[in-house]
Amino acid sequence: MPKVITVASQKGGVGKTTTVINLAHGLTLRNKTVAAVDFDPQGQVAIALGINPEPGIFNVLVSELSLAQVVRASSRKGLWLIPGDKRTLTAQVVLQAEGHDVLKTVEDTFVKSWNGQPDFVIFDTAPSVGGFQEAALSVADLVIIPAATDHLALFGLTGLLETLDNLQQRHGWLGRVAVLPTFYDKVTRASRDNLKKIAAQIAALDFPMFTPIHRATKLREAAAEGQTIFEYDPTGRAAQEYADLVWKVLEEV
Ligand SMILES: Nc1ncnc2c1ncn2[C@@H]1O[C@H](COP(=O)(O)OP(=O)(O)OP(=O)(O)O)[C@@H](O)[C@H]1O
Ligand SMILES: [Mg+2]
Repeated sequence: MPKVITVASQKGGVGKTTTVINLAHGLTLRNKTVAAVDFDPQGQVAIALGINPEPGIFNVLVSELSLAQVVRASSRKGLWLIPGDKRTLTAQVVLQAEGHDVLKTVEDTFVKSWNGQPDFVIFDTAPSVGGFQEAALSVADLVIIPAATDHLALFGLTGLLETLDNLQQRHGWLGRVAVLPTFYDKVTRASRDNLKKIAAQIAALDFPMFTPIHRATKLREAAAEGQTIFEYDPTGRAAQEYADLVWKVLEEV
């Protein structure tokens, strides 16, 4: 079975999708095979990788296409995508209305049904709690929580931590949690102060913290071009930082 990484935060715009895309591509550059699954109805993963978003999650869960019919090869060797779009929300409503166990359906469909490949499944999630977010957390070996250091990033994490707590208590969830500071700007005092506060909060929760990803215009530009940072600016600092994250993740799972 693949190792599962879920990138989650209730907060919007903290770098979840950017992390999913660059971690996924970065792992393939270390000769791993990776399937990115986009549970966010905004469907940004397909856009950021320059891939057609249809068919996707909805079709697998509701209109009965098989995973093999929906999984998309990207132009990157070993990197596949199961896209999402706004019908992902419909899929969630339909599953719940029909009385399906959403957690089990997600595990059976997106984790257990692979045949030997890929090495990793990486879930992108919407900035909310419950439904598919909870399901993606429930199957995770590692949860990465991006925390933007340009504001008090851990403020508003309560729902996510409660969900994880609940998964531990009720479902015996054994995954690990790590925080990834993002939008770091070491020349800005507020950013440095926020990083210190985040580090203290994380230490109190006993979670490891990855090395911060600096704010980098190149990351925004890469996404707009449908490229990963390893394609758009392979020798820049952001690529180096995401390459470091890849190593840390390989150590962690
Ligand atoms: N370290 C960074 N430096 C500069 N820009 C970044 C950085 N990380 C991400 N961005 C840009 O910030 C925007 C938000 O990032 P991203 O889409 O990854 O966040 P998100 O958490 O997935 O948002 P949402 O909650 O809406 O899904 C995007 O335009 C992205 O290209
Ligand atoms: Mg996103």
